[in-house]
Amino acid sequence: MTTLPKRTFTNPRAAHGFRGRPCSILAVGSYVPENVLTNADLEKMVDTSDEWITTRTGIKERHIAAPTEFTSDLAVKAARRALERTDLKPEQIDLVIVATITPDMPFPATACLVQEKIGAVRAAGFDIEAACSGFIYGLEIGQQFIMSRTYNTVLVIAAEKLSTITDWSDRNTCVLFGDGAGAAVLQNRPEAHGLLTVCMGADGSKAGLLLMPGGGSRCPATAESVGKRMHFLRMEGREVFKSAVNSMYNAALESLRRCSLDIRQIKCVIPHQANQRIIEAVGERLGVQDGQMFVNLHRYGNTSAASVAIALDEAVSSGRIERGDLILLMVFGAGLTWGAAVIEW
Ligand code: ACO
Repeated sequence: MTTLPKRTFTNPRAAHGFRGRPCSILAVGSYVPENVLTNADLEKMVDTSDEWITTRTGIKERHIAAPTEFTSDLAVKAARRALERTDLKPEQIDLVIVATITPDMPFPATACLVQEKIGAVRAAGFDIEAACSGFIYGLEIGQQFIMSRTYNTVLVIAAEKLSTITDWSDRNTCVLFGDGAGAAVLQNRPEAHGLLTVCMGADGSKAGLLLMPGGGSRCPATAESVGKRMHFLRMEGREVFKSAVNSMYNAALESLRRCSLDIRQIKCVIPHQANQRIIEAVGERLGVQDGQMFVNLHRYGNTSAASVAIALDEAVSSGRIERGDLILLMVFGAGLTWGAAVIEW
């Protein structure tokens, strides 16, 4: 049996007499649609400017899926790219989890549509909904099945077609979001600690800050709900901003504390890509050094659950992260929800 290398961190699972199998990310993949919507394009749609969007958010452009390209299609492309980087065949996947707030339909689960399209014939499938925190929630759920030896291979996908719930007449929100997907294949790698810890949190008392009021059991679709634009995302941006900084900071701090790690030992910090100013505020409080933070929101905007998954894939493909590096992911989103994960890559 391979012994794990000695490292200068604590595996928090050991403190609880952990007997399960460690869970690693075997490979990642991502996909964004071809069509690019720039700030200049938005200037023609609403009363805004490239200058306002850039200075307030850092976003320059976002990708928008074609009318015939659905969340499951984005998910499939990201999943295939992740699987191509492994020796696995689709039929070896035991479970498909899709994190999304923009499923193809309220039911069946988008995970089932993906399961069929990629040929994961043996896999179970379900969706989870934790908004922008969905990828980290998905990793934590997925790793439970690996640790408990219930399953060997879990595919976690975060995919969003936010353009379908964006109110393109509301300048407060329409400049922020984009479409895309990221995927991770989870397995035990005997030589690695993998996911060292995942912190998750939620505060339903702030549910009203960020929501889509129509389309559920509370307000089913009617001509009136459509007329009142209730099937689009609504947000109190300033309040979400404050909660985002606090929740990501606290989750990151707690996950580092659990592993007895100092932020300086982290090779790459990958935050939810919502707003450059939120990322800078959290980075400053955490003491993140120049070059430690990975940011790609200028090209994609906020792709909700997919955001941190796409960023992770780009950090790996660009060589910013190598096997053995310690990385920190941190997210927040509607719910409110938040989370952070420390991973030995
Ligand atoms: N172009 C020009 N002006 C605008 C625009 C725009 N696109 N949007 C808003 N403004 C105006 C406002 O009307 C306001 O004008 P006023 O002072 O005359 O009323 C002014 O700009 C300032 O508005 P604020 O809302 O105070 O601007 P703020 O600096 O807070 O930035 C923003 C707004 C970018 C939304 C910011 O609050 C933010 O990023 N919040 C967090 C949002 C977020 O990250 N959500 C992620 C979760 S998403 C999920 O879970 C799906």
